Amino acid sequence: MLNVAIIGCGNISTAHIDSYLKFPERCKIVALVDIFPEKAQAKNAQYNLGAEVFDSHEAMLESGLKIDLVSNCTPPYVHASIAINCMNKGLNVLVEKPMATCLEECDAMLEAEKRNGVILTCGAQNRFLNSIAKLKAISDSKVAGKIRCAHVESLWWRGHNYHDLWWRGTWEKEGGGPTLNHAVHQIDMINWIQGELPAEVTAVLTNVMHDNSEVEDLSFAILKYADGALANVTSSVVHHGGTQSIVLQCEDAKIAAPFSVAAEKTKPNGFGEPNTELEEKIRKQYNTLPDNKYEGFAGEIDNVLTALENGTRPLITGIEGRMTVELITAIYKSGSLKQTVSLPLAKDDEFYKFEGILKNATRFYEKAKSVEELGKGEITHGSMK
Ligand SMILES: NC(=O)c1ccc[n+]([C@@H]2O[C@H](COP(=O)([O-])OP(=O)(O)OC[C@H]3O[C@@H](n4cnc5c(N)ncnc54)[C@H](O)[C@@H]3O)[C@@H](O)[C@H]2O)c1
Repeated sequence: MLNVAIIGCGNISTAHIDSYLKFPERCKIVALVDIFPEKAQAKNAQYNLGAEVFDSHEAMLESGLKIDLVSNCTPPYVHASIAINCMNKGLNVLVEKPMATCLEECDAMLEAEKRNGVILTCGAQNRFLNSIAKLKAISDSKVAGKIRCAHVESLWWRGHNYHDLWWRGTWEKEGGGPTLNHAVHQIDMINWIQGELPAEVTAVLTNVMHDNSEVEDLSFAILKYADGALANVTSSVVHHGGTQSIVLQCEDAKIAAPFSVAAEKTKPNGFGEPNTELEEKIRKQYNTLPDNKYEGFAGEIDNVLTALENGTRPLITGIEGRMTVELITAIYKSGSLKQTVSLPLAKDDEFYKFEGILKNATRFYEKAKSVEELGKGEITHGSMK
């Protein structure tokens, strides 16, 4: 039985708690932490957890309570410091996305993971969606051929007051806008599918609807891979009826999540005609691939519990969390400096450290309003079914 602590008892902690509770024979939530301890107490009461409540993770670490795994559900700017403190006490950590706000922090987290012999995994629950797992499997099988072009859309809608929450809308605490905090999911997926970072990135950032926020609310990025393939990534919180999708245009067919397939073959005159045979083959492959036992957050939690039980690696490693932060950092660098950026980013890059990002990133507006809590309501995690 693994003892679990939740640090940060806001919106997303609910998805973590719900998922841990799906595995009562494997884990127990024994600690809840929030700098507003009444939020931790409220979760304790709501779920009848009987957990100990702390007002800081330091107090939890000093308490002597036996904890095996921490879900770090705090705002991005404290992900690294809390994760490192926990790992230094021998605890395994699942850190919510984004892994951290800069590459220097990611590297410090990876160093702490290695030195302490623990597991660090990063939130990327969408990888456990059937549509994404199957897209990855079909892409890996090469039935559609090599990826030549990808369209990655991370389109969401968030109201003007979204950034009023105290930690949102600043480079310092949120670490960026939808490119970091929303498209992080789709950027993780395209990195996972491609298995490598692009060689260069050219991006444009803007803020068209959220004048209470320093960070972008819309970005377009073009990724160019070493073999010449291109991808475009749109990150937005200004799209009504938001949708998230990945379309892979491969040599022989288009495959996509949400699932669709199309294939063309060449006619003698050079024009195309449907390759229905290949389309049918890929459709059949998709339909016969087994579904994940658990999807989304439950899949992510099952995966980390399994890794701890069996001494294996989780599906999402800290190194992959870092890859995602590296690509996002390159998008911010390109958009802020208005130049094409080559990857990888070196340790002496001006955007490697958080201070460099704070100094160089474009500030669109001043955050003029800050509230401790926004009104109540369900949050959405997106869907790529
Ligand atoms: N995986 C997803 O789909 C998804 C969705 C939403 C949010 N998130 C991520 O989860 C994290 C939290 O987002 P949220 O929407 O739940 O925010 P939130 O503001 O609702 O919750 C964060 C909680 O952390 C607490 N907190 C802040 N600093 C703390 C500290 N130093 N120690 C302990 N507690 C602290 C806050 O008081 C708050 O209760 C962010 O990194 C966000 O990007 C992930």
